Amino acid sequence: MVTLDQLVQYAKTTGYIFQGSELYGGLANTWDYGPLGSLLKQNIKNAWLQKFQRETPYNVLLDSSILMNSEVWQASGHVSGFNDPLTECRKCHQRFRADSLIHEHNPEVSAEGWHNEQMSAYLLDHHVSCPNCEATDWMPIRSFNMMFQTYQGVVLEQANQIYLRPETAQGIFIQFKSIQRTTRKRIPFGVCQIGKAFRNEITPGNFVFRTREFEQMELEFFVKPGTELEWFDYWKQFCMDWLIDLGLKTDYLEFDDHKPEALSHYSNATTDIRFRFPWGFDELWGIASRTDFDLKAHQTHSGENMSYLDPDTNERYLPYVIEPSVGVERLVLAFLANGLDEETLETGDTRQVMRIHPALAPYKVAVLPLVKKEHAEKAKHVYKHVSRHVDAVYDDTQNIGKRYRRQDAIGTYLCVTIDHQTMDDDTVTVRNRDTMAQIRLPIDALRDHIEQISAF
Ligand code: GAP
Repeated sequence: MVTLDQLVQYAKTTGYIFQGSELYGGLANTWDYGPLGSLLKQNIKNAWLQKFQRETPYNVLLDSSILMNSEVWQASGHVSGFNDPLTECRKCHQRFRADSLIHEHNPEVSAEGWHNEQMSAYLLDHHVSCPNCEATDWMPIRSFNMMFQTYQGVVLEQANQIYLRPETAQGIFIQFKSIQRTTRKRIPFGVCQIGKAFRNEITPGNFVFRTREFEQMELEFFVKPGTELEWFDYWKQFCMDWLIDLGLKTDYLEFDDHKPEALSHYSNATTDIRFRFPWGFDELWGIASRTDFDLKAHQTHSGENMSYLDPDTNERYLPYVIEPSVGVERLVLAFLANGLDEETLETGDTRQVMRIHPALAPYKVAVLPLVKKEHAEKAKHVYKHVSRHVDAVYDDTQNIGKRYRRQDAIGTYLCVTIDHQTMDDDTVTVRNRDTMAQIRLPIDALRDHIEQISAF
């Protein structure tokens, strides 16, 4: 496994991820996705949509607003309860999340569900030291609400205060009735959504693992009460299979089933899929059985009936919800860490390879004229042909060996070389990134071949 520093360096030099606002000295913990990173993100989202929405008979798609009526966040409990326990070192005045300090001090201990007083007492009793200056004197813990606030309209007054959404899920819950009515979906059915979320994290970090602006892919799956644990198991395995089918190593993945005493008050089952990131196993994907907590909260707060009428049995009930929720950037980090490899060849040379599933690879194909002067025109024709169907890159600089290495390093799955023989018979060599094996194909057969090998 690569180190985090190697990964950051790799992402920056290849054009996957750049530091945000670098021209002006940066803005802490913001990242821009470069030409490769933005394609990778797009491909991850497409692969998720394909399996979670397009190919299931159950799920439909939603694209709701980032800005919503503040009542949404009152009802959901985010205004009163979306807090992190903030403490401050009395000596250096750096601020930290108390629960993280405790867990880092003793990985056996999880402070989830503890009161602030309990955490304060633990920090002092166990002489937990400040990661910055090693002092062991802490200010009392206070709850810090993680929602970003802003104002809508021209008057900066309380009535105009709104929030940037800290999750996409609530947009789905508040449209549950409209979606069910217009799609005429019967339970069980689900709603998928991809979109930005914002959290004023106290301690962002580990590259793109924890940031204040990120993108979530969430499914809210509505079921009949009593069937929720079956569906919980179904989606848990579905998520794991999706990751494995896309090439994450099985020994880098594990389920972390939450113990009953660690469950949130609204959940009767929760698990995290954890991935072995460069610093160790950590949460990649949260999957929760949320009962009818959210629909009930919106029903109570809005006064609107959120129940579902089963047309077969005439039963009326508030559906229960299973929610698999994952961050796109954590997946980017996992796929890059999983795929980055350095290989020693028989010649003794080393090559860097990004072994990423072809469906996720930013470029499926590189089109390379062997000799620029002689083959460029034909190569441009081939590039035009393939780039209508898949992301492709054209490269005619330096010798062919160097071009292969460059494409291997960024994960391009196939290199198509136009050479002397192409001019005679319209065939090209097609080189595979992982095996480096080469085959010869007619130009007309390229499209089918590329689509076949990059299918997911
Ligand atoms: N609606 C449920 C929900 O938002 P969560 O566990 O807070 O649950 C779900 O977040 C997923 O979103 C996480 O498993 C992670 O993949 C991603 N995520 C959460 N906070 C994040 C952050 N600050 N930066 C990047 N990704 C984050």
